[in-house]
Amino acid sequence: MPRLFSVSAALLTAARFFTAVEAELRQPNSSSNPWRIWDDLAGGSGTFSEYYPIGNGRLGIMMSGDPRQDLIRLNENSFWSGGLLHRVNPDGWTTVKTMQQLILARKYAEAEDLGLQGYTGTPLSTRHYDKLGQLKLTQMLPDGQVTNYERWLGIDDAIAGAYFTVGNVTYQREYLVSYPDDVVAIHLTASKPGSINIRVRIDRGADLNRFQGWSEPANGHSTVTGGQSADGDPLQWAAGARIAASGGNVTTLGDTVRCEGADEATVYFQAWTSYRKPDPKRAVVSDLAAVSKSFDKIRAAHVADYQKYAGRVSISLGASTASQKALKTSTRMTSITPSKFDPELAALFFQLGRYLLIATSRPESGHPDLSLPPNLQGIWNDVYTPMWGSKYTVNINLQMNYWPSLVTGLSDLVIPLNNLLKTMGKEGAKVAAAMYRSTGTVTHHNTDMWGDSAPQDNYSPATFWAMGATWMITHVIEHYRFTGDTDMLRDMFPTLKAVAQFGLDFLTEHKGYMVTNPSLSPENTFVIPGGTNDQSAAVAAGPTIDNELLWEVFGFIPEAHAALGIKDKAFEKRVADMRARLPPLRLNQYGGIAEWMEDFEEANPGNGHMSHLVPAYPLPHITSANETLFKAAITSLQHRLDHGGGPCGWPRIWTIALAGRLFLPNTTHARLATQMGECSWNRTMLNMGGAAPFQIDGSLGAPGAVVEALLQSHESVVPAVGNGSTPSSSLRAAYTGDEGRVPLVRLLPSLPVEWAVNGGGFVRGLRARGGFVVDLAWDIAGRLTTASLTSEAGNAAYVTLGQARVGGGDEGTAIQANGGASGVFIRLEGKKGTVYKITVTGQK
Ligand SMILES: *[C@@H]1O[C@H](CO)[C@@H](O)[C@H](O)[C@H]1NC(C)=O
Ligand SMILES: *[C@@H]1O[C@H](CO)[C@@H](O)[C@H](O)[C@H]1NC(C)=O
Ligand SMILES: *[C@@H]1O[C@H](CO)[C@@H](O)[C@H](O)[C@H]1NC(C)=O
Ligand SMILES: *[C@@H]1O[C@H](CO)[C@@H](O)[C@H](O)[C@H]1NC(C)=O
Ligand SMILES: *[C@@H]1O[C@H](CO)[C@@H](O)[C@H](O)[C@H]1NC(C)=O
Ligand SMILES: *[C@@H]1O[C@H](CO)[C@@H](O)[C@H](O)[C@H]1NC(C)=O
Ligand SMILES: *[C@@H]1O[C@H](CO)[C@@H](O)[C@H](O)[C@H]1NC(C)=O
Repeated sequence: MPRLFSVSAALLTAARFFTAVEAELRQPNSSSNPWRIWDDLAGGSGTFSEYYPIGNGRLGIMMSGDPRQDLIRLNENSFWSGGLLHRVNPDGWTTVKTMQQLILARKYAEAEDLGLQGYTGTPLSTRHYDKLGQLKLTQMLPDGQVTNYERWLGIDDAIAGAYFTVGNVTYQREYLVSYPDDVVAIHLTASKPGSINIRVRIDRGADLNRFQGWSEPANGHSTVTGGQSADGDPLQWAAGARIAASGGNVTTLGDTVRCEGADEATVYFQAWTSYRKPDPKRAVVSDLAAVSKSFDKIRAAHVADYQKYAGRVSISLGASTASQKALKTSTRMTSITPSKFDPELAALFFQLGRYLLIATSRPESGHPDLSLPPNLQGIWNDVYTPMWGSKYTVNINLQMNYWPSLVTGLSDLVIPLNNLLKTMGKEGAKVAAAMYRSTGTVTHHNTDMWGDSAPQDNYSPATFWAMGATWMITHVIEHYRFTGDTDMLRDMFPTLKAVAQFGLDFLTEHKGYMVTNPSLSPENTFVIPGGTNDQSAAVAAGPTIDNELLWEVFGFIPEAHAALGIKDKAFEKRVADMRARLPPLRLNQYGGIAEWMEDFEEANPGNGHMSHLVPAYPLPHITSANETLFKAAITSLQHRLDHGGGPCGWPRIWTIALAGRLFLPNTTHARLATQMGECSWNRTMLNMGGAAPFQIDGSLGAPGAVVEALLQSHESVVPAVGNGSTPSSSLRAAYTGDEGRVPLVRLLPSLPVEWAVNGGGFVRGLRARGGFVVDLAWDIAGRLTTASLTSEAGNAAYVTLGQARVGGGDEGTAIQANGGASGVFIRLEGKKGTVYKITVTGQK
């Protein structure tokens, strides 16, 4: 990753010579750096969605880079609207029982009507996430026009910047949020000594005051403000800023910090809540007073820390044209279409998703049990009443936030998610007992930082669903498959087992199967049979998504037991017996995957949720080995798309992942291009889908979805006879729970033509199940040129190239590893540390 310029140490220490300093502040020339989002509009339009996001997991800021006044938006990830609530409906248990009977009697509308009173939470909602406030950075500049303006966000170094000239002075700012130093630092320099004059103040809005109780100066160089949330179990908070300068004076006036005539200055920002610090004010004041490292040192530690994660994966989808590269980001973003691709911009879009995960999902140092994952807006929420409360929605959105984590080498950043799953596990156990008289743990379709697991809101197509934790916990299963990390599995197993226990208790018999009831297929609705076309309902028994989630979790129990040395045959038998009684996957009247047990007519066939396709992605159940199901999944995806499904944002990203899994490269390509060109903010490249200013799931999910076109490893096989140079015809497809299965790594399964025609491409550092690091390169015709798999876990795997079907005989392209036996499917014994070079021996 190129570093094209740096603020030199000389500037901060000795250099007072005007010319020497001036030479340092040369035009950043962001267009020459392919890893920068940038533009040249001074201050922009002042719209939040055009600000650049930076963060360290806990603290998040959005900067505009406005020369005279940057209203920097502030977030702290534990700034929620209050303490833990206990919201289980006092009539929950009896209502669940009555709803079950009504649903079996096909009285869906009646069941929902009761549920809206007796099932919903009391009160209806969990806590919501809140904006902390804004830091007003005012810079006094000479009179005159701002010229040479440039603003950027470096995806190679996680630093945002602004550069401009006013009068005869050139100014530069760099903004970063450091994880190693756990502080926000904004560094201001100028080409002429003594030119830095700034003011800093923090507020939560000028015309209304929510939760801001005090605001005062501290230590002659800082401002500190804080307060508490409104209700009976309030959250205390404090936030402060300090200016450190050289060559000028720093003073306070009221609760403003001023800096006059400095050569350079750094603004530090810190915030805490009582979620982590008993006395947030004391913590903020002492942290700010304690900053003693130079900005250069903070910057160097920050860049090294960021690049440690970011540098694990590199990608190229081809070269953009010189004229594309010369344009600013917003113009490139609005120009991209499926037929006018911009491969380097697409690579930047991919790395932006990884950047955002590194910036929002960090284990709390020293306190992993206090770390929190990104919510609906990550840590970049700008309003006091955010859409959907900027909470954790667990019927696709929080799941999608972690799509890039395992496949792009960021599995060590999953700790905040796993921590929330454990918190949900504890709170959900109370909900399971009170609402379902069940053992184990349950979470409905939302949660907050306290793990509140009671039903959320009163929206029928989402509320009546008790499988939120069940879906979330499949991430732990996949995490184990990718890394073989038994410590992680041991840590998470009690929660996973509790999820399975809830399933065992909750399932009831219907038509010879064991089914969830009441439930629904998030967030779809069906036409009530016998009703008129406008009478729709959502509640049903045994929707496909539930059966598949439980099939996966139950099926994993014996594998987890074996990995952890747990001997509990009785529990294994219980889950195996129950698993055998779940309704199987089935086709519907259109030849697609049935969404419900009954063949209901969809009321909203263009629904954004692909709940019935969860077994195709993210779960590994539907693969090309079962042609019937595979074709049905394609039919279902097409059916949704034909009806306007997969609109902007997370639904579109989901369709990209599905298209990869279902070998539809043109769909992958077209939908990636339109997500960029039509569904992203053109100046920041952030996801604009949905009603919120921006919702982070689409941005975070994108790299995970893109990988499905390049590399897959969700399939597995067992050799029918022997091993080694097993002929393809003797491989049998295997699934979760099957004994002796080995992951199948599939290289370039769905590579779109457009990702090859601009000079070929490559990806390095992807991860495959079984613990492999995978590097791939392809030529202009999309043919594999080099591939290597490095075994990190010492597990065996099979490898194949392209779309060869397990059970499809020897159809496909023959490959070999390190000169070994050649075949369409080859086996790697996976000796730890071994690098397997794959070569193509029979290109067809
Ligand atoms: C910016 O970088 C490009 C590519 O390296 C170079 O051709 C161009 O001359 C540079 N422009 C300036 C103003 O430095
Ligand atoms: C900028 O510098 C030029 C050349 O040295 C001078 O003529 C001009 O007056 C200066 N402008 C200001 C605003 O200082
Ligand atoms: C800083 O303060 C001192 C003492 O008040 C004053 O003499 C000096 O001129 C000030 N410097 C600047 C750059 O304002
Ligand atoms: C970016 O999008 C905005 C609307 O959000 C539009 O007004 C503007 O023209 C677009 N910019 C470019 C360069 O197309
Ligand atoms: C495909 O899956 C269906 C549903 O589980 C099953 O009935 C069928 O036997 C499978 N076909 C093959 C070839 O495995
Ligand atoms: C996919 O796209 C390529 C290139 O645009 C085109 O040649 C091919 O016919 C398309 N395939 C299908 C199945 O539409
Ligand atoms: C493969 O077969 C050989 C010879 O039969 C045996 O020694 C080896 O353990 C087998 N490997 C695996 C992973 O089953």
